[in-house]
Amino acid sequence: MNLVVVSNRVARGKANEPMTGGLAAALLPVVEKSGAIWVGSSGRVRDGAQMEPIVEVERLGTGAVALLDLPAAHYAGYYEGFANSALWPALHSRSDLIRVSHDDYHSYREVNAFVARALLRFQKPDTLFWIQDYHFLSLGAELRGLDVKSPIGFFLHTPWPSRCVIDSVPHHCELVEAMLAYDLIGFQTAEDCENFASCVRVDLGLKIRNGVVKSRFGRTRLAVFPIGIDADRFAQSAAKSVSHPDVSRLRRSLHGEKLAIGVDRLDYSKGLINRINAFDRMWSMHPGLLRGVSLLQIATPTRESIEAYGNLQSEVARLVSEVNGRHGEADWTPIRYLNKGYGQSVLAGLYRTAQVGVVTPLHDGMNLVAKEYVAAQSPVDPGVLVLSKFAGAADELDTALLVNPHDIDGMARTIAMALSMPLNERRLRYEAMMLKLHRHSIQQWFADFIEALQDVEESKIEPLPAAPAALLAQRLAPPGTRYH
Ligand code: F6P
Repeated sequence: MNLVVVSNRVARGKANEPMTGGLAAALLPVVEKSGAIWVGSSGRVRDGAQMEPIVEVERLGTGAVALLDLPAAHYAGYYEGFANSALWPALHSRSDLIRVSHDDYHSYREVNAFVARALLRFQKPDTLFWIQDYHFLSLGAELRGLDVKSPIGFFLHTPWPSRCVIDSVPHHCELVEAMLAYDLIGFQTAEDCENFASCVRVDLGLKIRNGVVKSRFGRTRLAVFPIGIDADRFAQSAAKSVSHPDVSRLRRSLHGEKLAIGVDRLDYSKGLINRINAFDRMWSMHPGLLRGVSLLQIATPTRESIEAYGNLQSEVARLVSEVNGRHGEADWTPIRYLNKGYGQSVLAGLYRTAQVGVVTPLHDGMNLVAKEYVAAQSPVDPGVLVLSKFAGAADELDTALLVNPHDIDGMARTIAMALSMPLNERRLRYEAMMLKLHRHSIQQWFADFIEALQDVEESKIEPLPAAPAALLAQRLAPPGTRYH
């Protein structure tokens, strides 16, 4: 099998470099060992009508990483525009933040078509394509348009929201229909999968039987594959990293005080404002915790040229300074707020130092920070995870302290409870979560998806003729519309 993995952002093989997102960090160890070619954006753009994509190939473990310069004319419309100002807010149920133009959609389709052309050079008779995430919803359809017959799988790392939310994305019907060019579509949770199925049923008028949709492309299987981590590797790294200078300096600076930790990209889906308000409330409700616990909040800037992100950055900075001004002392800072990224191994040591991990997104596909925090704990004296019930991880990590991130008082009470939880209860909760982490490792996730994609290939049937054309015609682009 010749596996080609595609994602917008790829990792370059240095595990200790700061990573901007869960996807690249999670995939690195498994893609490295699989011998796959991992194709993604080089982060550079190229001017001119670049019909033949230029690919730079680097070695990655037993395989390679192939970096594409994306077309300059379409990059902003694709990445900042349609992907991150239309799809991202909608996928995280924030349709109020959608800002998009028809040009952005055009650029998104152009970049998908461009990447499809670039992938042709990696195609061999036994190739499996595995496309990752919301940047490439229409890449499968573009590959089919280039007559690619290989199995193509797709995994969505974000949530898929309810129908009425995805309805706010212009051209969403076309995109959902284009996604049916994939043989297998994987979701993080059963709810995401059901929400997508409901779009297929209602918006496209197609039937789904036993998780399989028949469309003009053939058959597409919809299934759930919750992404995991390598818990043992992360635990080892955490145990080793406590002696890392950054971690040991942090430990010394605490003088016996407890620590809560939050690690997030500076994204509105992560619930940072609500979390900081909850700490503010906790210190007001329990003055005994002043000087008793501080919050280390690492918030890595992301997508800064998008207005919603710039606004959030200012709002969080202002709130942190207000809370520090209200509760701080000359020799004590309640919130240590950092706008930078850390490599995985230092992060592991920081997680192990904290008695409480706060992972309280308003909506999140999985949230691997939650899993990493648990794996990093010392089995003899583990910390407590406070986890939003709206993170995909809450399905598995149900022995964390689950919170509603919109209920500030409730979060304040739960964080205080976490800080005083007796050792035996902490251990029971930790052990139950570690069991789940071992059961759903990243290696298992990778193997399960590939196996399911191979199975789909074996059971292929003839495509339907022209599906429910009457219904689709009302909802899809006018005839003759071309995006590449
Ligand atoms: O699924 C979410 C994701 O694609 C992950 O890779 C990561 O959490 C984030 O988005 C990365 O975003 P960006 O590549 O825009 O920094």
